[in-house]
This record gives sequence, structure tokens and C-alpha cells, in this order.
Amino acid sequence: MAGGRGSENSFQSLNDGCHGTRAFDYTFREARFARHPFRIRIRSGSMVVPPITFSPVTRVLSCIQPTGDVHLGNYLGALRVWVDGQHENDVFHGIVDLHALTVVDTPGVLGETTINLAAMLFAVGLDPEVATVFVQSHVPEHPQLGWVMECTVSFGELSRMTQFKDKTASRENQFISAGLFTYPALMVADILLYDTDAVPVGDDQRQHVEITRDVAIRFNHRFGDTFVIPEAVMPKAGARVMDLQDPTSKMSKSADSDAGCVMMLDEPAAIMKKFKRAVTDSESEVRYDVAAKPGVSSLLDILAAATGTTPQAAAEHYTQYGALKTDTGEAVVALLEPIQARYRELIDDKAELTRLLQIGSERARAVASVTLQRAYDAIGLVPA
Ligand code: TYM
Repeated sequence: MAGGRGSENSFQSLNDGCHGTRAFDYTFREARFARHPFRIRIRSGSMVVPPITFSPVTRVLSCIQPTGDVHLGNYLGALRVWVDGQHENDVFHGIVDLHALTVVDTPGVLGETTINLAAMLFAVGLDPEVATVFVQSHVPEHPQLGWVMECTVSFGELSRMTQFKDKTASRENQFISAGLFTYPALMVADILLYDTDAVPVGDDQRQHVEITRDVAIRFNHRFGDTFVIPEAVMPKAGARVMDLQDPTSKMSKSADSDAGCVMMLDEPAAIMKKFKRAVTDSESEVRYDVAAKPGVSSLLDILAAATGTTPQAAAEHYTQYGALKTDTGEAVVALLEPIQARYRELIDDKAELTRLLQIGSERARAVASVTLQRAYDAIGLVPA
């Protein structure tokens, strides 16, 4: 089965290294679009297509966990790419509360963080008219296909996941849920349920998308063509935003201190302070060199992502670290201020956010239920 076509916006396909034109399995896709005629949109492009009555759009799926406040890494690595692609593609974005159960065990927390996250997703620009924003626990097909995927992925494959190793490394003698280990199988299901072509994610999720491809190919081989093989897509700058205090570690909400993590809702003064205190090195040359100069390179990467250039091009404008820090901070403040204003408007109407999520979840279910049934049929389970 063929994989999807790279999108023509700010996505960078991992598998063909460019916005490449890929072959399609038209029979399979025709069936898919026939099931969802309301999602068919005509798009132009350089792809050579046989004379049939539809133009394939790229089906995009990506998700985020409601495990805390959204940070700059989430935005630059993933969310802004989701927004960029929404009008050209057929996009689904999940708030994956069931995934968050692997780390959150306090009653009442997930409901609140889910609504806050929905407000943030709409504040960054997802348009509920075109983007299907849903809650994972509203779509029971996720854990249902998740189980099938647990039985398709191997223990060895799960053992090699670096995220599992990273997340458990410092938790010796603490409770580690089995869900943290089997997490990628649920993520495989999240992606495959939507016949996904493109998965826009930050670099830390690359391995999870690769395992998704492996598992989908294995299932198709065992049971016949069932799943579309997805591709990870990443932004050219910002795919791995680093912690400002420890530029060899990615920016993360679970870092020990928040001094190196810029939150989407941080006040401008707090953002400037974090950038001014960013760790660099004892030299003075501004150069993009991730191995030798991780702190400076990380600032250049953020500046490039925030201003739409490349880190190398950004470096040419600077001879001093101080100016680089100030300009990067100011570029981030300018990027976040309108989002913060919109968030403050949206968060006041929780009933409307809940309604939008319910609509999104219904739309998601309409697609996911068909794919789950296709997988059950391929296996040969007795029809219900
Ligand atoms: P999560 O919730 O940790 O992060 C959401 C998105 O933000 C990206 N990201 C970053 N990008 C650049 N720099 C950083 N420092 C940074 N930190 C986070 C992540 O790569 C991600 O794209 N397992 C996923 C959620 C998930 C999912 C899925 C994603 C569940 N099912 C299906 C895609 C498709 C996660 O924990 O992301």
C-alpha cells in the first residue's frame, strides 16, 4: 500500500525528504472518499492523477496530551503546523486524555485541562469549521483499535521506545503504569483510525510515527490492505525546541524548573526574562552549530521559527549574544500576544468549548468507526 502525499505548506516529509509526489493506491482511496463524500475537496497541484472524479486531499491527524500548560515547543513544533495546513487538507486533531492517564491520577484534573487545551487549540487558530478537534475518550474506537494494535506490536519494539526509557529513567522505585509502556500502541490506533496520510509532530514523536508505519505494514501483510501508511511531517525550524536553561534537553512541561520552558500564557515580561537568562556558552561568536554551540543554536532555531527564516540566515544578523537573546524574546512575545488575547476571550465560554468538542468528537467517530469495522472485518471477527 502506498503512503500519503507530502503537503505543500510548511510540512517537511520525513520519508521522502521533500514535498514529494507519491504514488497512490487509487482503489483504496476511492473507497475511502466514497465513504466520506462530504470531505472531498478539489485541490490543484503537480501530482499526476488518472482521470477519475475526485482529487485526493491529504488527511492529517495529530494529537496533544492535556497534561499541563502548552509551551512554546508544542506550538512551534506542532500546533502552528496544524493551523497552517487546515484549509488545504482534511484535518483531525485529538486531545488525548486517555494517553494522559499514563501520568495523571488526580480526580477532576483531566476534564479541566482538556477544556483549557481546547481553548488554546482554537486560540492558536484552529478553525472549528474546517478542523475536527475531538476528545480521545469521546471516541471509544481509539482504545478498541488500541488493543488490536497492542496485539500487533511486539514487546521488543515497545522496549526500544526512547520516550518510555526517558520517562522512566528517573523513576526507579516509583509507580510506572503498564500504560506508559504500551502507550505507542494506542498512538498507532489514534493515527490509523483516520486513514492518515500526514502526522505533523515535533521531533520527539518521530519514533512513534515510525512504529506506526511498521505496525500498519505488518497488519496489512497479515490481514490484507486495511490501513493507510502515514508519514511524519515536521517544520523546518522548531521541530525540537530546547530548554533555555539546558539546551541539550528538549523544552518540556515536565522539566524540573520552568525557567527554561516558555509557556504560551507567560506574561511578556516573564518571556523576556527567560530569554535574557538563556544559557549560551563562554565564546562570543553567533553561529548555528548544534553540537558545539547548543544554547546559541537553540535561540537561532526559535528566532527562525518565529520569524519564518532559517537558523543559518538568522545567525548572519548577530555578533552579540545579548542582541540575539533580546530579539528572540521580542519575536516570541509578538507571536504569542495575539494568541493570549484570543485565549482569554475563549476560556470565558466553557459551554461553547464543550459544544465544539462534542461536534468534533461526533465527526471523528463517524470516520473512526468505519476504520475500526474495516479492521475487524479484515481479521475476520464475527459481525456484531
Ligand atoms: P505531546 O502532548 O507531548 O506534545 C504535543 C506536540 O508537541 C510536540 N512537542 C515539541 N515540538 C518541538 N519541540 C519541543 N520541545 C516539543 N515538545 C513537544 C510533540 O512532538 C507533539 O507533536 N504522544 C504525543 C501525543 C499523541 C499523538 C498521537 C501525536 C498521541 N497520539 C497521534 C500525533 C499522533 C505526545 O505526547 O505529544
